[in-house]
Amino acid sequence: MINRLVVFGATGDLNARYLLPGLAALRAAGHLPDGFQLVCADRKGRNDQEFREWTAEQLDRHAGSAPADARKWVADAVRYRQADATDAADLASLIAGDGPVALYLALPPVVFPGTITALRGADLPPGSRIVLEKPFGEDLDTARELNRLLSEVVPEEAVFRVDHFLAMTTVQNLLGSRLANRVLEPLWNSAHISEIEIVWDESLALEGRAGYYDGVGALKDMVQNHLFQVLCLVAMEPPLSLGERDLRDRKIDVLRSIRPLTDEDVRRRTRRARYLAGRVGGREVPAYIDEDGVDPRSRTETFAEVELQLESWRWSGTTFRLRSGKALEADRKEVTVHFRPVPHLPFGEAVPNVLRFGLDPEDMTLALTGIGSGVRNLTPLTMTARMEPSDLPAYGRLLLDVLHGNAALSIRGDEAEQAWRVLAPVMSAWSTDRVPLQEYPAGSHGPARADEERAAQI
Ligand code: BG6
Repeated sequence: MINRLVVFGATGDLNARYLLPGLAALRAAGHLPDGFQLVCADRKGRNDQEFREWTAEQLDRHAGSAPADARKWVADAVRYRQADATDAADLASLIAGDGPVALYLALPPVVFPGTITALRGADLPPGSRIVLEKPFGEDLDTARELNRLLSEVVPEEAVFRVDHFLAMTTVQNLLGSRLANRVLEPLWNSAHISEIEIVWDESLALEGRAGYYDGVGALKDMVQNHLFQVLCLVAMEPPLSLGERDLRDRKIDVLRSIRPLTDEDVRRRTRRARYLAGRVGGREVPAYIDEDGVDPRSRTETFAEVELQLESWRWSGTTFRLRSGKALEADRKEVTVHFRPVPHLPFGEAVPNVLRFGLDPEDMTLALTGIGSGVRNLTPLTMTARMEPSDLPAYGRLLLDVLHGNAALSIRGDEAEQAWRVLAPVMSAWSTDRVPLQEYPAGSHGPARADEERAAQI
């Protein structure tokens, strides 16, 4: 295990809300030894004491459920360093020390190329690992260039392009449920499944993240990475093992099988929108364009939907609908599998079979048809299961994998490139307004679909 972690982006949202709490959870579970070294760096310039106080506050706020001694341990262990992530000398002095280091770039993606270039001259100790957050690049070309730069600094197995959705037990449970249950996998194909929806609708709005989000938007923030990873687990062929090669080879097969989107597909099968002022759960939310830090000329979408077809033996004929939006009426975070109707029913009307995997909170619902009063009387029957909450938060799991060098759940370079390839026609059409930017009031269920709009006009 690597015993040193350097986080760039010390006072950023990611460190405060996810990494420091993840470390506290790891400590509480006995995964971080006393000698573990934790350094957080950015350009701001603080001293250790100030930064430790700030860390303790963030842990109180975001890791309240972690035991107090684990939170205190993290706040006491952390050291602060002022450094420029694109300066080779700063980087060299930060990573100097005994043994390999894990370098976590909790930074805006525009900084990655500069940091990786600077790392060439920074003498990274052998066995060190680099962790990058999404989005990995801004498009296919920039992702390729980033991969090239990384390959000059460390071998591919030392690069962790992380996606915290893959570390969520609920997401892992999709694969577990499919592969460990005889009743599911034989039906897991287009002969039985008409549509799979992968939905991550949030009631949260921008929450002060304009600096990162404006110009990125829902497609690059959620669909290109998190939702594509969920798609991979839902649609992949059973891997031979859960080792990194088997798992990642099967995931890339899924991305390669996505039918390239034509101009017509993009116009008919993708939607983009942003929120207007409204109320979400009793809270006033300004229009996206009026949020602090948003460029008044911004065309950034806060809602994205993409409908995909996979060309493969298993999936030709099934629709995959991926969607995510912010400031919506309610949280809806789930994968919903719609089964085709039975071929012949001698009586009554059956409820469509729908299997729903809740991603947050974790639960599972299966809609079936049962018999009501009398054998001819069909009635809906819903079965619900609630899962045990996970012992570690997603970022705790992800950090543990990094420290132990387990890359199975991080994204390989070619996978990141494939994901951009799929979305290139969408990005091109959206950036030139060939697909209109719709609007929806904050607190609503999102923009109306074209078919719903037509129905409303009739
Ligand atoms: C992040 C996105 O990666 O995932 C956010 O940048 C999104 O916009 C978040 O809200 C959702 O994941 P979680 O675990 O914070 O609910």
